[in-house]
Amino acid sequence: MSSTDNEPILRVENLRAYYTSKKGLVRAVEDVSFSIMKGDSVGLFGESGAGKTSVALAIMGVFDKISRYYASSSGDESTKRLWELRDEARRKGLTSAEMGQALPGVEGQIWFRGKDLLSLDEKEYRKIRGNEITYVPQGSRKSMNPYMTIDYQTAESLWAHDENRALHERQVMRRVLEVLDLVELSDVDIRKAFKPGQFSMGEDQRILIAMAMITRPILMIADEPTTGMDSGVQHRVLEAIELVRKELKTSMLFISNDQKVMAGLVDRVAVMSAGRIMEFGDAKTVLKSPGHPFTRAFIMSNPTMEVLRRIREKGLVVRGIPGSPPDMSNPPPGCPFNPRCEYATDLCKQRVPDYREVEPGHWILCHRYEELPRF
Ligand SMILES: Nc1ncnc2c1ncn2[C@@H]1O[C@H](COP(=O)(O)OP(=O)(O)O)[C@@H](O)[C@H]1O
Ligand code: SF4
Ligand SMILES: [Mg+2]
Repeated sequence: MSSTDNEPILRVENLRAYYTSKKGLVRAVEDVSFSIMKGDSVGLFGESGAGKTSVALAIMGVFDKISRYYASSSGDESTKRLWELRDEARRKGLTSAEMGQALPGVEGQIWFRGKDLLSLDEKEYRKIRGNEITYVPQGSRKSMNPYMTIDYQTAESLWAHDENRALHERQVMRRVLEVLDLVELSDVDIRKAFKPGQFSMGEDQRILIAMAMITRPILMIADEPTTGMDSGVQHRVLEAIELVRKELKTSMLFISNDQKVMAGLVDRVAVMSAGRIMEFGDAKTVLKSPGHPFTRAFIMSNPTMEVLRRIREKGLVVRGIPGSPPDMSNPPPGCPFNPRCEYATDLCKQRVPDYREVEPGHWILCHRYEELPRF
């Protein structure tokens, strides 16, 4: 699905990521492909449970570890066996298809600046994770150490990646002040010695952004960094992301289920539902005139004034999404949106559609795109 002149800094190809549960495999990410160019910001937009965080965890190289951790606490024998088979497949260098069985964990390819991340060992991955690729999680407080002052926490990843012990403390602290300034934390000189709980929620989140930026990453992944914040605080956090990103020319993968947040921030957007990218393209085009039935319905479940006006002008009726997202341990056959799609036909229930490029760089996963009313 990548269609660019220059080499992307990140290229995800046919990514699949399955968890295990008592009900069997949870197919969280299914055949996901997209790319991010240098300095580009790409959004992963979609309903809760669509697989957005799982894509991020796969890129960070922690998906298997996290899903194994949950699996090990279940004590379930069939789950244990599935992970043993996954280990065997990795040892033999085989895919689940070659093993003749769907297996948990990550499969596919994630190319980052010419390296296939999934082929790296943990030591090699550690040089990239938290350094060249950083992650800003949702819910700042639980990802910070409540007992450590923020200047030292912010400095941590610089120290951790300073393999040759070339950095001096004064240099590091200067850099800490610079990034805390960049995210517009006030009275940094004094408050750098405060601990996380002494800041407001929005300030904590901006400190997390500073932490994710101090290594001057090539790619930052921000996973719903403003969920649960009121709009003023949200605005300042998003502004901080944009300020730092532009200053450092960092590429970004921005995850959100809020189209208003997404709209001002990303160049291109991938709309996800049930583990798949349903639509991918220029953010303004996709968010203002979505082509995929899922995107339309999802946007209509929380429409902006502009979208409402447009729909009225065209005399269209578009409803929000009925029912709930599919259970990914037992996904529907065919198009994953078919149980909730008002346009579904028998074909939709039998076969997963192919991607079609409906205009340059705009991809849609739907059997019936040509027949649908234009938005
Ligand atoms: N540790 C886990 N074990 C089993 N299933 C999980 C786990 N974490 C998430 N899931 C399931 O994987 C799917 C995708 O989840 P996630 O990637 O968190 O979606 P999103 O970030 O879009 O809300 C959901 O069906 C979710 O219930
Ligand atoms: S493929 Fe069929 S079910 Fe899926 S979105 Fe298109 S019309 Fe709806
Ligand atoms: Mg998530």
